[in-house]
Amino acid sequence: MERRYLIRTFGCQMNEHDSERIAGVLTADGMTPAHTPDDARVIVLNTCAIRENADNKLYGNLGHLKPLKERRPDLKIVVAGCLAQKDQAEIQRKAPWVDVVVGTHALPQLLELIDRSETDGPQMDIREHTEVFPTALPAVRNDTFRAWVSIAPGCDNGCTFCIVPLVRGPQRSRAIGDILAEVQGLAARGVVEVTLLGQNVNTYGRDVTVPGSSRTPLFARLLREVDAVERLRRIRFTSPHPHDFTPDVIDAMAACEKVCEHIHFPLQSGSDRVLQLMRRSYRRERYLEWLARIRAAVPDVAVSTDIIVGFPGETEEDFLGTLDVVERARFDSAYTFQYSPRPGTRAATMPDHVAADVVQERFDRLVALQNRITLERNQAQVGTTVEVLVEGAGKKGGSTQARTRGNRIVHLEHGLEPGTFVDVRVTGAAAHHLVGEAVGASAPLRV
Ligand code: 5AD
Ligand code: SF4
Repeated sequence: MERRYLIRTFGCQMNEHDSERIAGVLTADGMTPAHTPDDARVIVLNTCAIRENADNKLYGNLGHLKPLKERRPDLKIVVAGCLAQKDQAEIQRKAPWVDVVVGTHALPQLLELIDRSETDGPQMDIREHTEVFPTALPAVRNDTFRAWVSIAPGCDNGCTFCIVPLVRGPQRSRAIGDILAEVQGLAARGVVEVTLLGQNVNTYGRDVTVPGSSRTPLFARLLREVDAVERLRRIRFTSPHPHDFTPDVIDAMAACEKVCEHIHFPLQSGSDRVLQLMRRSYRRERYLEWLARIRAAVPDVAVSTDIIVGFPGETEEDFLGTLDVVERARFDSAYTFQYSPRPGTRAATMPDHVAADVVQERFDRLVALQNRITLERNQAQVGTTVEVLVEGAGKKGGSTQARTRGNRIVHLEHGLEPGTFVDVRVTGAAAHHLVGEAVGASAPLRV
C-alpha cells in the first residue's frame, strides 16, 4: 500500500502551523496525503488542550480509530500537540493502540519515533525544551498565497486560567534574520500574505539577550522589516497581549503599509476584580483607553477579541462589567468561551466556580449582544469599496470567499482565482460575513 498520511488538527493557528511542519516531515520521507483514514498509513491527531472539550474530542477520535487499528495493525496512530505534551502517559494508558505520543518540542524526532514503534512498540517523546526550532523543518502549506510564520512560540505570562505556558513552555523568539529569510523565501514563491504567530507576539524578542542591550521587545522593528519585503502585500499578526501593545508597536502598525488594519485584542473580562484574579495586568478603563489610542492611530482598524464567561468567582455584577466594556468597545467580532477548568492552572483550584446553568445564561446574553454589534459593524461597511484577497470557493453555493484587510469575510457571486486581489463594493452585510461585487482587479493581480 502506498504510504499516505492524514493529519487532523485541533485548536489554534500555532497548531495549524505545526501540522504544516508535520506534513513537511512526512512528505520529505516520501509520503503523500491520504483522503480518508482507510487509505492512510499514518494518522496524526494534532491536539489542543485549551479547553476541556478538546480532551473529550481526542478520546472520541481515538475510540473511532481503535477498530481500524485492529483491522490494520500496520496503521500508525500518532498523537501530537498540546494534549500530547500535557497528558503524555495518560494517553498511552487510556488508548494503548496509539503508536506514538509526540510532544510540542519533539517534532524533529517524529520519523524516528514512527520507525522505532515498528520494532519496539509504542513510543513517547515529551521534552521540556525545544532543541531544534520546528521552523527549521520543511513545511507543506495548504495555500500557495498565504502562510503562517512562527516568530515566538511559548508564553511567559501566567494568566491563571491558561494551560498554554505549561504545554508550550516559556517564550522563545526566533532570530530576526531567520524570520526575514523565511518571509523573503515565501514572498519569492508567490506568498502575498503572512501571519506572524506567537502566543504573545508583541513581546517578540524580549527573551533574546543581546549583549549590552536592555532586553527590549523587538516586535515593532520586526514589523517594519517584514513590511520592507518585496512582493508581499499583507502582514497580519496574532495574538498580542493588550499590556504589551506599546506605542512603538502602534506607530509601526500605522506606518507600515502592508500591516493590515486588524488587531486581535483579547479582553477576557470587563471586570477589574476578575482581571486581577486572572492575572491580566491591565484594567477595564486602561484597556478602553489603549483601544481608543490604536483606533486614532490606525483609522478603520477592525478589532476582534477573546472573552471568557464564568471565571471562578465571577458575579452578576462582574459579568455586567463585561457587557458594558463590550458595548463600549464595539468589537467587530469576538471569540467567546465558557470558562473551562484546566488541571494544573491556578484558576482550577480557586473557590466559587460558577454553576453551569448560570454560565450558559450569561454566555447567551454576551453572544446576543456581540452578534448585534458585529452585524452593526458589518452594516457600516455597506457601500464602501475595499480590497479583498480571494481565498477560494465559498462554503455555501458556488460563490467565492475573500477577505478584507480588516479580516472580514466577503462572499462574491463569481468564481475568482484564489490568491488574487480584487476591489469589491460591499453590497450587503450578514452576521458573520459581507456580500460584495467585484468592481475591478486590484492592480497588480498577482505580484
Ligand atoms: N477556559 C476558557 N477559555 C480559555 N481560554 C484560554 N484558557 C481558557 C480556559 N481555561 C481562551 C482565552 C484565550 C483563548 C485562546 O482561549 O480567551 O485568549
Ligand atoms: Fe495563555 Fe495568557 Fe499566555 Fe495567552 S497570554 S497564552 S492567555 S497565559
